[in-house]
Amino acid sequence: MYSCGIDIGSVSTEAIILKKDDNDNFDICSYVIGRTGSDIKTASENIFNDALLKAKIKKEDIKTIIATGYGRKNVSFANKNITEITCHASGVLSVFPDVKTIIDIGGQDSKVIKIDKLTKKPIDFLMNDKCAAGTGRFLEVMAKALDIELENFGKIFFNTNEKIEITSTCTVFAESEIVSLIGHGVDKGKIVKGLLYSVADRIISMISRLGLEEPVSLTGGVAKNSGIVGALEEKLKTKLLIPFEPQVTGALGAAALALKI
Ligand SMILES: Nc1ncnc2c1ncn2[C@@H]1O[C@H](COP(=O)(O)OP(=O)(O)O)[C@@H](O)[C@H]1O
Ligand SMILES: [Mg+2]
Repeated sequence: MYSCGIDIGSVSTEAIILKKDDNDNFDICSYVIGRTGSDIKTASENIFNDALLKAKIKKEDIKTIIATGYGRKNVSFANKNITEITCHASGVLSVFPDVKTIIDIGGQDSKVIKIDKLTKKPIDFLMNDKCAAGTGRFLEVMAKALDIELENFGKIFFNTNEKIEITSTCTVFAESEIVSLIGHGVDKGKIVKGLLYSVADRIISMISRLGLEEPVSLTGGVAKNSGIVGALEEKLKTKLLIPFEPQVTGALGAAALALKI
């Protein structure tokens, strides 16, 4: 039996197709990551069709399709939609069954979810979708201002010893602060390091309101930024568990829940 999960985020959309075997275990047949853009309907259809092609199956072969993420209500071909908190938790727990705290840093939001150790369900969460600071968007704006590829932030973090404190928390003010620092000839590596710590601080302020319980998993596209991983691990003094493809965890959870319907 096949299922599909589709996660419509503000920056990226992911589709994943799972196949359940006779022992109730599942295999991943295919997954696709694409950009959401301004047309959710077209993006979700294209990404779903790509996932079908990769899995070499037809839409009719899929029993249940579940949509999640901020655009979940606009996926006309889905049988059901479920909130991203439930889907993220289900996705992470299918990879790391003992996780108690999930940090998800996406394109325009970040969230922290606490998992109940007995029921394995979310018991509490905090979400920041009002302010770009502490999200992927903040890092994208700063990478552009610095004229450095976001993919290089990790290497720079680990190769730079000192940081420059970034005092502005607002994205717009932080961008001006960085432009001014560059103008004063400050080493860009130190600025990158300061920025990564400042994003980590925003996330930690959410975690401290919920209380940190280990093991902790980090998901979302920003989990691919090894600089953020380094800054968070250093400040939280714990190793973060990162799934095989941290961007598809929401879709994975949606598809895993679809297998149970
Ligand atoms: N290879 C990468 N290196 C560094 N950062 C990345 C990489 N891929 C994605 N990102 C970050 O992930 C963010 C998108 O996260 P994602 O979880 O896909 O967002 P959404 O909330 O739309 O699902 C981007 O803003 C970017 O900061
Ligand atoms: Mg996404």
